[in-house]
Amino acid sequence: MLTDKYGKEIDEILSRYPVKRSALIPLLYLAQREQGYVTEAAMKEIAQLLKLTPPQVYETVTFYTVLNLKPVGKFHMQVCKSLMCALAGSDTVIGWIKTKLGIAPGESTPDGLFTLSAVECLASCGTAPMMQINDDYYEQLTEQKVEKILGDLRTTGTSDLKSGPYMWPLPVAVKGEK
Ligand code: FES
Repeated sequence: MLTDKYGKEIDEILSRYPVKRSALIPLLYLAQREQGYVTEAAMKEIAQLLKLTPPQVYETVTFYTVLNLKPVGKFHMQVCKSLMCALAGSDTVIGWIKTKLGIAPGESTPDGLFTLSAVECLASCGTAPMMQINDDYYEQLTEQKVEKILGDLRTTGTSDLKSGPYMWPLPVAVKGEK
């Protein structure tokens, strides 16, 4: 049960929203943190918490690609396929990954390390083609960069080719803070 494990965090999230149902996405994101995807049990529990029907929760999970309905690999590669990235070669990026890992969008490597998805605009159009892996962006991708990123992730679990973070944590102090 999410409430058993994350009761305090759930209360904190709920306290931010005067209208309970507004906490839906943060709670789904919390549920996903647990297992990498949102389980049916978690959807039911969240529906109950927010006084929504399970289909209302389900339709939200299916709408946002940031939420996963099935298990994903340790590294979830989401290649943007929207217009700017498509013009800059997102299909080619997907092709490189297919060749190097043997997986197509929607598939995972047998060792559970990598999952590939093709997603809509990730708001980094100026640095197309790009992809998000877990919480990090990788931009202006080239075949050499993709090769290095995959190698880095496999060997060290991280890569210095990731960019940002630009938005989180906030890059500048909020007014009044040191
Ligand atoms: S089109 Fe790819 S980030 Fe916007």
